[in-house]
Amino acid sequence: MSKKGARNLFIIGSLFFAVIFIGLTVDTMRQLDSRAPEITDEVNEGKMLWHKYDCIGCHTILGNGSYFAPDLTKTTTNKPTSYLVKFLANPREVNKRAAMPDLGITDEEAGKIVAFLDWVSKVDTNGWPPEPVLAEMIKARTGGSSIYAKYGCSACHTIRGVGGTSGPDLSKVGSRQSDPEWHKKHINDPQSVVAGSAMPPYPQISGEELNSLADYLISLK
Ligand code: HEC
Ligand code: HEC
Repeated sequence: MSKKGARNLFIIGSLFFAVIFIGLTVDTMRQLDSRAPEITDEVNEGKMLWHKYDCIGCHTILGNGSYFAPDLTKTTTNKPTSYLVKFLANPREVNKRAAMPDLGITDEEAGKIVAFLDWVSKVDTNGWPPEPVLAEMIKARTGGSSIYAKYGCSACHTIRGVGGTSGPDLSKVGSRQSDPEWHKKHINDPQSVVAGSAMPPYPQISGEELNSLADYLISLK
């Protein structure tokens, strides 16, 4: 190759790759913006409170933290934010046996922390964290009741060792509440039978589904 040819190859080659490099950089920056929602003041204050109370000493978000307590990266995707606010402000009022400590968080602070957790939930994490390995077991162990799985009751409840723990364990709920009519009322409108219940109402469950869900719950002994 002549000297001129080599120089042209160098210049054109460098330009060519510079354009590709700049193009990819612009594309990455554009995607980064759309991967996370906007950070409001409330979200920002929530993050400060997250640090102040050292939540990360027990919980994990976005891959950082401890494994003592549930991963909170996607916690607002399967629990109403109003429920989480109540739980943070007073865990034992939501679930008598909650292991989460009462940290003396005010309702206002809880609202900010949950705004932060909701922001985290909306960050596009390419499917992180993965579905818990035990998620499949929930379907297997709740055997007859695909309705229990369908409505996501296991987000808050455990049956024989699998499921969420912020609500009461239901492994033996049939011995505590054996009346199917109580369960039907409770599912449709928890506060109608349990004063101040933090459980979200499920008015959409009715007819056959409601009957078989109630039968399933009283069978748990
Ligand atoms: C000493 C450990 C500990 C600390 C500190 C702690 N938690 Fe928890 N938290 C738990 C445990 C354990 C649970 C599981 C439910 C239960 O048994 O109470 C839990 C449950 C939760 C839940 C319900 C999650 C779910 O999916 O069921 C939320 C939300 C939560 N914690 C948020 C926080 C926040 C926010 C902080 C900091 C302000 C915090 N926690 C500090 C131990 C802790
Ligand atoms: C967002 C969390 C959450 C979800 C989701 C949830 N629950 Fe609950 N559940 C609670 C809380 C908190 C309580 C305790 C207050 C009460 O008894 O109403 C509770 C109580 C119960 C009880 C009474 C337990 C006892 O020991 O007396 C039953 C039964 C129950 N839930 C069934 C269900 C079913 C069935 C579903 C799905 C259709 C469901 N829950 C979904 C939070 C939840």
